[in-house]
Amino acid sequence: MTIPILTIDGPSGAGKGTVSRLVAQQLGWRYLDSGAIYRALALELTEKDFLHAEIAEIVEVALAMDLAFECGEEQSVMLNGQDITDLLGLESTGNNASKIATIPEVRAALLQKQRNFKQANGLVADGRDMGTVVFPEAKYKVFLTASAFTRAERRYKQLKLKGIDANLSKITADIQERDQRDRERQFAPLIPAPDAVYIDSSNLSIQAVVEEVLSLVR
Ligand code: C5P
Repeated sequence: MTIPILTIDGPSGAGKGTVSRLVAQQLGWRYLDSGAIYRALALELTEKDFLHAEIAEIVEVALAMDLAFECGEEQSVMLNGQDITDLLGLESTGNNASKIATIPEVRAALLQKQRNFKQANGLVADGRDMGTVVFPEAKYKVFLTASAFTRAERRYKQLKLKGIDANLSKITADIQERDQRDRERQFAPLIPAPDAVYIDSSNLSIQAVVEEVLSLVR
């Protein structure tokens, strides 16, 4: 039996995580947050002071990571038995993740961890290269985006809600820098798969996007 896969790729802050989680819940499918895998590796490397180590050493750390995702109301992530959920959300973790994500050997090392999520009823995979590289065979593909201003504003509100001090112009600059790095990297850049359906969420509610994505699958 072929396992149905829905890929949702796009830049940071487009709403991929929230939409993917809700769609996966509604369909009873598994959810893969591939960005969390890159973020976890960035954290592990920071902890070991290995962010600028030799590529072979970074790959070794990537292969040895013991990651577990626990899905409740919110997703929690355990790395080598330790709950790293809060650390994953830091801006610095996202920026470091985007730097190590440019290294092709690192991407190759993380490929199998991502493909292992393909199980059971179906999979919703969220990231940058889900529809192009990790699951090119996916039956349903979405490229979800929003204007840079909308994405920065959403991020700003999220941080404020968490009580984290945030600065809108700094967040806008960070998002633009990260997007540019993700789009221009040589290996698995952020681009829509040729067969992806494009959705701009700038003026849509989360629920409207969820409905649109569900209508593709149903
Ligand atoms: O999606 P999220 O913001 O958590 O991802 C953090 C970083 O990890 C991204 O900016 C991107 O550079 C990298 N990433 C990637 N490929 C993926 C998912 C994330 O390169 N499939």
